[in-house]
Amino acid sequence: MASVKLNVNGTDYTIDDIDPSTPLLWALRDHLGLYGTKFACGKAECGCCNVLVEGTPLPSCIMPVAAMAGQSITTIEGLADDEGNLHPVQEAWIEHDVAQCGYCQPGQIISAVSLLMKNPHPSDGDIDNAMTGNLCRCGTYTRIREAIHTAAKKGGAA
Ligand code: FES
Repeated sequence: MASVKLNVNGTDYTIDDIDPSTPLLWALRDHLGLYGTKFACGKAECGCCNVLVEGTPLPSCIMPVAAMAGQSITTIEGLADDEGNLHPVQEAWIEHDVAQCGYCQPGQIISAVSLLMKNPHPSDGDIDNAMTGNLCRCGTYTRIREAIHTAAKKGGAA
């Protein structure tokens, strides 16, 4: 067991008595009470559990918590600003009524935010390439693509 320091959504945390090999996902959910990040395949194959680590979407279900120490982690809960205003990508998601069951959507939004940080005006092909690791059983892919274009027009990298 170990003590691990994490920076999540701009706040420093220390988690005591945790197995350093614990996946980041369970540290977020079980130790920090951040339930927005979802467990799905558990094998880094579906994108449901994606969080931003230094701006890059990574599957939190396989990332050992100890390897995340000292890095800036952003979860779905950290996208809104300090006044509670939603991120432009979240607003676009609502505008396009993207979610169906919703289970995959935190990971989809995290990947979309990362894409727009790196490419503020992506083409359809850029979007498809960037989002290929995010699976949606409900088939919301067309609306996801439209929402990303809308967020890009509104300055979605904000
Ligand atoms: Fe249901 Fe994507 S909205 S799995």
